[in-house]
Amino acid sequence: MATTIDTKRSGSIPHGGELIQRHVSESARDAYLKKIDTMPKIYLNAWNLSDLELIANGGFSPLTGFMNETDYTSVVEQMRLSDGTVWSIPITLDVDEATADTLDIGSTVALVGQDEQVYGVLELSDMYTFDKEKEAKLVYGTTDSEHPGVKKVYEKGDIYLAGPIFLLQAKQNEKFPEHQLEPKETRKLFAELGWKTIVGFQTRNPVHRAHEYIQKCALEIVDGLLLNPLVGETKSDDISAEIRMKSYKVILDKYYPKNRTRLVIYPAAMRYAGPREAILHAIVRKNYGCTHFIVGRDHAGVGDYYGTYEAQELISQFEQELGIQILAFEHAFYCTACENMATAKTCPHDKSNHVHLSGTKVREKLRNGEELPKEFSRPEVAHVLMEGLRQR
Ligand code: ADX
Repeated sequence: MATTIDTKRSGSIPHGGELIQRHVSESARDAYLKKIDTMPKIYLNAWNLSDLELIANGGFSPLTGFMNETDYTSVVEQMRLSDGTVWSIPITLDVDEATADTLDIGSTVALVGQDEQVYGVLELSDMYTFDKEKEAKLVYGTTDSEHPGVKKVYEKGDIYLAGPIFLLQAKQNEKFPEHQLEPKETRKLFAELGWKTIVGFQTRNPVHRAHEYIQKCALEIVDGLLLNPLVGETKSDDISAEIRMKSYKVILDKYYPKNRTRLVIYPAAMRYAGPREAILHAIVRKNYGCTHFIVGRDHAGVGDYYGTYEAQELISQFEQELGIQILAFEHAFYCTACENMATAKTCPHDKSNHVHLSGTKVREKLRNGEELPKEFSRPEVAHVLMEGLRQR
């Protein structure tokens, strides 16, 4: 926890120093749309679209577009952009070779969704091949195609396109309009609320008791909590964003102080890249204005690819440079002897008293139609989840 936070101002300085904005004015948008039929088109999937949006709204500051080969190689090999700025996950746009053959460097390419809507444009500055196994090994720590992030890398086209982008219209957030704020808006919100220190919380799961415990420990020392669930693409057995959003609303309503929490979506796709993704998650929350970020057990992990505290260990090496204070929490559990949530740091009782919680266990119990015990989940959350799954 070496980073110094300036508590006189609200929020943090964006990564790289400036909050990037790649939206266009209405007139520029019309001008692009008039020329659109003359431009080559490429089709973006949901993952690409969420990256496009996060580049444009500054969530991925200082990126202004999809990574060129120099930045990509530097990020994969050294967790830094070529100018030395810490960056842990490649942000790339892939196409197959046949599509790449139709494109010319220097041209403006229309970025089109599967619904034929034009979402953005790319000023194409670079096209390059890449080594999928190398990306898998270095970024995800494994070449196993069973890993959901690695599987995605293997499914990609063979060429990455690079260059600055402009966003013509946003797509990802339309499902939760009242919880959709861009980084510039969350920064304004924090200032209006008078929060100088804000802890960001990443999750792809419903909030269970361990989540609540570590969030509330953090709330003891900062002004506000940004509950910032990831709502982009996740693996199919994760609980859908729609059901999760309902569950977040009930738990915030019933168990959290209203003036000290805000629920805002994080429209990204989940990479499951564990330690490296924890760094990306921290950078993005810094861009949203958070001064603190929670990294608990096996952050952004999947299966047993990463050690319980590997994410904390990796991020601690960069914390000074990241400029966001990492709140590292040990594995939290419910202790039946304490009758409370605890960790090994605070509980004196034998392990036989400990009920261990995880998103995986919550999902397993729900799938088997089992009740979620109160040590796992607030009953109101359990109700929303069971109801949501029953309807599906
Ligand atoms: S994530 O994949 O989005 O990171 P998840 O929703 O499970 O996963 O976790 C959100 C955050 O809570 C992460 O920082 C994770 O490390 C932390 N966390 C989850 N369960 C626990 C637990 N039992 N004890 C401590 N931290 C936890």
